[in-house]
Amino acid sequence: MLLLNLNHNNGTPFYLQIVEQIKDLVNAGSIKPGHKLPSTRTLAGKLGVNRSTVYKAYQELWALGYIDSRPGSYSLIRKRRELADLSASGTRSVISWEKHATPGSKAIYKIFSAQRNNINARSRALTHEVINLSPLIMDKRMFPVEKFRKCMNKVLSTNGDVVLDYGEHQGYKPLREYISNRLRLHSVSVSADEILITNGSQQGIDLILRLFTSPGSKVLIEEPTYSLILPMLKYYRVNAAGVPVLDDGLDLAYLEKYLKKNKASFLYTIPNFQNPTGVTTSQSHREALLELCVKYKLPLVEDGFEEEMKYFGSAVLPIKSMDKHKAVIYLGTFSKVLFPGIRIGWIAAERECIDRLLALKRFSDLTSSCVVQAAVYEFCHQGYYDLHIKRMHRNFSKRMRIALKALKKFMPEGKVTWNEPAGGYLIWIKLIEPKIGTAKINEFFLNHGVIVSPGEIYYFKHNQHNYFRISISTLNEEEIESGIKNLGNAICELYKS
Ligand SMILES: Cc1ncc(COP(=O)(O)O)c(C=O)c1O
Repeated sequence: MLLLNLNHNNGTPFYLQIVEQIKDLVNAGSIKPGHKLPSTRTLAGKLGVNRSTVYKAYQELWALGYIDSRPGSYSLIRKRRELADLSASGTRSVISWEKHATPGSKAIYKIFSAQRNNINARSRALTHEVINLSPLIMDKRMFPVEKFRKCMNKVLSTNGDVVLDYGEHQGYKPLREYISNRLRLHSVSVSADEILITNGSQQGIDLILRLFTSPGSKVLIEEPTYSLILPMLKYYRVNAAGVPVLDDGLDLAYLEKYLKKNKASFLYTIPNFQNPTGVTTSQSHREALLELCVKYKLPLVEDGFEEEMKYFGSAVLPIKSMDKHKAVIYLGTFSKVLFPGIRIGWIAAERECIDRLLALKRFSDLTSSCVVQAAVYEFCHQGYYDLHIKRMHRNFSKRMRIALKALKKFMPEGKVTWNEPAGGYLIWIKLIEPKIGTAKINEFFLNHGVIVSPGEIYYFKHNQHNYFRISISTLNEEEIESGIKNLGNAICELYKS
């Protein structure tokens, strides 16, 4: 006997009330699998509702897996698997994810977990009194949100059906054309067909690793270098050969000696405001580096992640601008001058190289978001990008001057050295006599209300324990001054004993 009660006043449709009540009875075990439900006509008569209401309820119960029903026969309650209760904590999967994971992914997971624990511990320790000189992310207060919103609205209202489609796999053509023209301002001559839009330059690096390396390959990197390339090298089981970074860029004599005896899949370099050292190489260094790569037929990956952030002195042109032998693969991004969240970067290289990278990208993510690319194009096309870059230069040249002045004012004499960058956000600081490994330095600095980015994370092999990186990218003038003052106090304290 099925006892159901319909409420005529609560606004819930009758068929849903029938569904819910039958589900509850089954879940509570009050009606068992195999129980025969009344015919739609009988139940409708009993409840005083239309037969189609009961029919709709039975259909819904069938879709949810609560009943078996065959045309012309009674519906039977079926044994249904219980719904997984996502709120039940502590239940572990029957699958051992560790056992199923590949060796490469295990290595990368270990690094990721350690970093996540570090970040969690750090953010627990962070209070508003602690000034964070560590992250190389953008100052959200500088985001031109309203202008971008207008551009997004415009592309959706005028071209919504086109930009909400997959779009061209290589990237939104008007944006590629814009980037090609913009690169011309930096004397780089590439056509829109020689540009591949990526989800940030991080994806560009990943695609390059996938194109050129297999386990055991050698890749030449600067040491120290961008920390997030290092786990990728581990994942792809690539051997990195580190070329030391000197005051004027990577050590060319060391590189030549290496290339005389060894082969490598490519060389990765960051010639402007190198991450982490902040070093910008000279025109002659760039020429010599390119010459070496051409001589040894070595693809040169130039990461121009902050190309637009040259605000002191005269600009040095990208290596790609001299690339008549087409050996350079250039990486660009909007992340470090506009918004990192749009995830738009690009690779500029010879057409065949782009096509090979595109093939890898296409089978990995089909394409990058067309609507976002279209909004970014609109933003650039309206002239907002130029205005925004000018604003960034005004602000950050001021902020960097304040940072350098504060370092002079607050650092104890003879204990630390640092470079003076020509742009960007980074300053690389060396403790002349290492008193404390930089891995431990934040525990000490935290007590003085400041944290930094320890040097170790930027080295693949030859860890240096007496360097750390500071970034002014998220801080305003007062915050920079206070952060560096705290840093100075901490270092004075460190060298007191
Ligand atoms: C040197 C360098 N290259 C590439 C990236 C990746 O940037 P995105 O993927 O956001 O374009 C970063 C990010 O910090 C970086 O520092």
